[in-house]
Amino acid sequence: MPASSLAPTPFQPEQPSEPAPEDRPVLVLDFGGQYSQLIARRVREARVYSELVSHRLAPEEISRRNPAALILSGGPASVYAEGAPLADPGVFELGVPTLGICYGMQLMARELGGRVEANDVSEYGKADVSLDGSAALFHDLSPEQVVWMSHRDSVTAPPTGARVTASSETTPIAAFEDPDRGLYGVQFHPEVVHTPQGQRILESFLYDVAGAPPAWTPAAVIEEQVERIRAQVGSERVICGLSGGVDSAVAALLVHKAVGDQLTCVFVDHGLLRENEAEQVVETFGHHFHVPLVSVDARERFLSRLAGVSEPEEKRAIVGEEFIRVFEEEARRLGDVRFLVQGTLYSDVIESGGDVGVAAKIKSHHNVGGLPADMRMELVEPLRSLFKDEVRRVGEQLGLPERMVWRHPFPGPGLAIRIIGDVTEERLAILRAADAILLEEVRRAGLYRELWQCFAVLPAVRSVGVQGDERTYAYPVVIRAVTSEDAMTADWARLPSELLDTIAGRIVNEVQGVNRVALDLTSKPPATIEWE
Ligand code: XMP
Repeated sequence: MPASSLAPTPFQPEQPSEPAPEDRPVLVLDFGGQYSQLIARRVREARVYSELVSHRLAPEEISRRNPAALILSGGPASVYAEGAPLADPGVFELGVPTLGICYGMQLMARELGGRVEANDVSEYGKADVSLDGSAALFHDLSPEQVVWMSHRDSVTAPPTGARVTASSETTPIAAFEDPDRGLYGVQFHPEVVHTPQGQRILESFLYDVAGAPPAWTPAAVIEEQVERIRAQVGSERVICGLSGGVDSAVAALLVHKAVGDQLTCVFVDHGLLRENEAEQVVETFGHHFHVPLVSVDARERFLSRLAGVSEPEEKRAIVGEEFIRVFEEEARRLGDVRFLVQGTLYSDVIESGGDVGVAAKIKSHHNVGGLPADMRMELVEPLRSLFKDEVRRVGEQLGLPERMVWRHPFPGPGLAIRIIGDVTEERLAILRAADAILLEEVRRAGLYRELWQCFAVLPAVRSVGVQGDERTYAYPVVIRAVTSEDAMTADWARLPSELLDTIAGRIVNEVQGVNRVALDLTSKPPATIEWE
């Protein structure tokens, strides 16, 4: 993409236009079901903007959000159980098209004059249903469908005025509709892949019933965020820390597109990055996109503070603290800067606002690039409404190089927590070289995108080997490659043995100081993805 297309476009007077997709969200009311977030994602896959919200949201607040539709999620409780999460009955009087899924459907029945009863047996798994082809949600489907069920209670009488539109052998009321009141319910889960036509059912609800057009595209996201950033920032100056990762890169490009050179990016090279990453950031932002960029060579500083430190959490704390110090120094040098860009994602927003209990602290994930606690700047968070895959699509649309868009997650403390033991310049150089070979071969084999993460680890122990008649006493390198959906759990990747052979051969031959390559065969749990 030519750099000029990222230059700020001149301010234009407001013209009456279609509401932005984000101004007419589909709100997914979360009743605690395991698929709640998935529903929001499926709606977004249909290119309709959606948000996950608490089931406790008051009807007035829902109205204020001006939603195109509501979806009531599933949930683990029985609607009659004490303490079961309920919605304010006023929600059904808002005149907003509403789809209840599983628990959500049962809740509608309970609140609106129907009946819900416990079955003798629960229905879990695939089920055959017969659909009424004249129903709004099923009009373009053949009448016999396979769907995914997961329930113990069933609706035994639909809401007053609603008609039954699907049934299975065990569940005579598997769906209902009341088009006059805009109320729809399905007992099965259209959001999971085991309901093959589920996405079409959701799309019928969104496009035909709710009249929400598939307008939420990466281009629309960019346009919308650019507007918002301009409105927030005005003519003030903005600073953004770049880490080399996709989030900060996309956030920076959006802000630059919005306010041009009012933005200054700061890239702190802490010396703990992988091969060529620092150069790539400078090349991409400074030279290609012409974003004003301050690149700080802080390698010495970090290395000297890490000297002699082998405890993982101490390493994290040092890198986090030092990063903030360097960043603050640079910000001060820039003078009067009012805004700080942060790459907060929608998943962070959901997690911090969710009802879930706080999990035991396994590792403190100091997100390098995070907000220095006492910096008095306002936050600009252009990715706040996006899931990671959506950030990637926006990045592609903005012309960010493929390598950055699809980069595996990389921890803020970088290679410091992939050297098990003290961090020294020599060990960093060895690890960087081994890691580069590993990634090069995995890319060459076309497997990079299939892996969640793939990297080399350098345990600072030495073992005996023999090379060219000489006894060696050198480091091992461990290959860590995992598949995962979200890093909460992970499986070790079964890389082809020929590929492993090539990688191991190249590492011991090309990287001085390594005489052995090992493969990590553990999943998470019981191991973690990183070694520290
Ligand atoms: P673990 O090792 O806990 O990692 O299975 C889960 C995910 O988090 C990343 N990770 C970090 N990210 N700072 C970060 O920004 C950290 O200190 C850190 N430690 C682990 C890890 O790479 C994986 O994606």
